[in-house]
Amino acid sequence: MTNNELMNEDLKYIWHPCTQMKDHEFLPITPIKKGEGVYLEDFDGNRYIDGVSSWWVNILGHNNQFINDYIKKQVDTLEHVLLAGFTHEPAIKLAKKLVEITPKGLDKVFFADNGSTAVDIALKMSFQYYKNKGLTKPYFVSLENSYHGESIAALSISDMGLYKDVYDEILIRSLKTSSPKDQGEEEAARALLELEDLLKDRAHEISAVIVEPLVQCAGSMSMYNPSYLLGLRKLCTKYDVLFIADEIAVGFGRTGKLFACEHADVSPDLMLLSKGLTGGYLPLSVVMIPNFIYDEFYCDYSNYKRAFLHSNSYTGNALCCSAALGTIEYLEKNDIISKNQEKIDFINQEIQKFKKLKNVKEIRQTGMIAAIELQGYKSEERIGLQVYKYGLENGVLLRPLAHIVYFMPPYVITKEEIKKMIDVAYEAIVKLP
Ligand SMILES: Cc1ncc(COP(=O)(O)O)c(C=O)c1O
Repeated sequence: MTNNELMNEDLKYIWHPCTQMKDHEFLPITPIKKGEGVYLEDFDGNRYIDGVSSWWVNILGHNNQFINDYIKKQVDTLEHVLLAGFTHEPAIKLAKKLVEITPKGLDKVFFADNGSTAVDIALKMSFQYYKNKGLTKPYFVSLENSYHGESIAALSISDMGLYKDVYDEILIRSLKTSSPKDQGEEEAARALLELEDLLKDRAHEISAVIVEPLVQCAGSMSMYNPSYLLGLRKLCTKYDVLFIADEIAVGFGRTGKLFACEHADVSPDLMLLSKGLTGGYLPLSVVMIPNFIYDEFYCDYSNYKRAFLHSNSYTGNALCCSAALGTIEYLEKNDIISKNQEKIDFINQEIQKFKKLKNVKEIRQTGMIAAIELQGYKSEERIGLQVYKYGLENGVLLRPLAHIVYFMPPYVITKEEIKKMIDVAYEAIVKLP
């Protein structure tokens, strides 16, 4: 079949995520036939560099033979078994591995199957942790400009008006505090002072503060200084509020270290992982917790209500866990995180040229994430769409967030491919009105 035939068939049956479907009267849908490394190939034989790792999940390239083999071996043994009352080797091995590689103090793993659900679990767990201790703390604090997913609870603590305002009447209780506006230490200190003011007044009714460590990805790829995480850790301890690190987008090497919290050498109370966890192969997420939280739920049979009675059908699926084990082993065996440093430096060198463009306000980078912020356009111009179209016509999948053009490629990208990805974005931006 051709791209066109598949697109027409698709539009008859599929309602796509985060899309105004009428856009597809003028904007083609690209049916992908296969993937190889950083490339996606459509049914007409066109190839695209996946500059956004397919919504930030595919960290080790498409069709990675090493991960393929892990999943193939598992599928002939056990595809799935419920995780209540039963267990399996991939889940145990993965949980043990995650406890070893995440910041110290995270002792247990609670499995789920996508990022938003991990966020819901972390909020429920934090709230119930205090409830089990006899305290009712119904509020959660999150940062301005944050994004934590699309379930009702995750949306409630996100700061994305476009996605959440329409649901205002059904959101859960949350409080906002300002995020550091740049990567400097001064801004981090200012934002911490504001957070402390809030905690001083209201910590008695706040269960947790949740942040995206170092980079607010969906929030315009805004970046901030690691000292904020250090200060946040101290404030959460001082005011007896839990610290949730949502590393769903930034975990597994994206910021240049395995986990973003390592940049500040801090251990959060709860850490959320998904996306890169399975190399973009299968949906899986985890909530990592310390024993002191786990222990608050541990009690005699007669007091069943103290248990954490949350479940999802595909929780800890054996194929997903195998994909995750393959991903982590590939990262370790090939020393990917250290080797990325050369690519990070090269990206840095290549993005400098954007500075001289009049329609560029700022460039910023944290590890394997780089962003070009455009200026001078109104939101209704939907300028990002023009960059997206130019990218596709020239073999690169870029998916700007409004006026933010960003690069978040799989780590297997070569220098030549980095150059092509950045050059195509540059040409697209030069051509803008
Ligand atoms: C920081 C962060 N948290 C949570 C989520 C939600 O994950 P999911 O899309 O798997 O529900 C996302 C998704 O982009 C994210 O970037």
